Amino acid sequence: MADVYLHGHHASVLASHGARTAADSAAYLLPHLHDGLQVLDVGCGPGTITLDLAGAVGPSGVVVGIENVDGPLEQARRHAAARGDERTRFERADVMALPYAAASFDVVHAHQVLQHLTDPVGALREMARVARPGGIVAVRDVDYASMVWHPASPGMTRWLDLYRHLARLNHAEPDAGRHLVAWAHAAGLTRLTPSASLWTYATPEQCAWWGGTWARRTLESTFATQALGRGLTTDDELARISAAWQAWSTHPDAWFAMTHAEVIAHV
Ligand SMILES: C[S@@+](CC[C@H](N)C(=O)[O-])C[C@H]1O[C@@H](n2cnc3c(N)ncnc32)[C@H](O)[C@@H]1O
Repeated sequence: MADVYLHGHHASVLASHGARTAADSAAYLLPHLHDGLQVLDVGCGPGTITLDLAGAVGPSGVVVGIENVDGPLEQARRHAAARGDERTRFERADVMALPYAAASFDVVHAHQVLQHLTDPVGALREMARVARPGGIVAVRDVDYASMVWHPASPGMTRWLDLYRHLARLNHAEPDAGRHLVAWAHAAGLTRLTPSASLWTYATPEQCAWWGGTWARRTLESTFATQALGRGLTTDDELARISAAWQAWSTHPDAWFAMTHAEVIAHV
């Protein structure tokens, strides 16, 4: 079954993903990185996390970011050029059939990717295949059902219901976080170090940014076209959901948090 990437690669999505750093998205992995390691970043998106990982493995390390579509790769290469990083490579490849020999990398990493796949266990097996014995597979995914916020917002609650329903229609798992350990076991990975961490939006600046990005993504990204195409919503309802995000984002008491699960699997 073909994967359908729910978010798509509209500018509003890439802008949101392009604000990520290794510090806020891969802190659990950073203690395992040192000079000279070879790292594969699967589903690297616009590459900002990838480029931070490159910084953590020094000039003798090698980092390769892969994507199965060109749009984010072009943006990742622009981010690399802006940082003066000429070593990190961004290549087109599918996680389900990686074009690398077995045992090619010390670290094989994926952030917020397994939740979008119809076969996350197969993806983990393929990631483990290209990891060296003694190396690691590192994955981190959100759990959508763990999202909590204040003040209550019926429009945002409807957004979350729509998002989770749509993901499941795509045969993907929006509550991926809670499944990571089980998926790793099913992929034959046994030596696991699981952990969890939150993304929290609690200052006026953070809430304005997070709410603002979803106010746009609700109207402009493939979340909208897919939800409309499947007859799950209407333009009017999407406009109300977007307005709800906007209203929440400027509320003086606004607060939002979501759990992410992380697994380091020792190969
Ligand atoms: C939510 S984004 C995460 C991007 C980046 N890792 C980050 O956290 O900013 C998921 C990415 O996985 C990519 N992706 C989805 N299916 C893929 C596949 N089969 N092989 C490689 N990449 C894939 C998508 O194109 C998308 O850019």
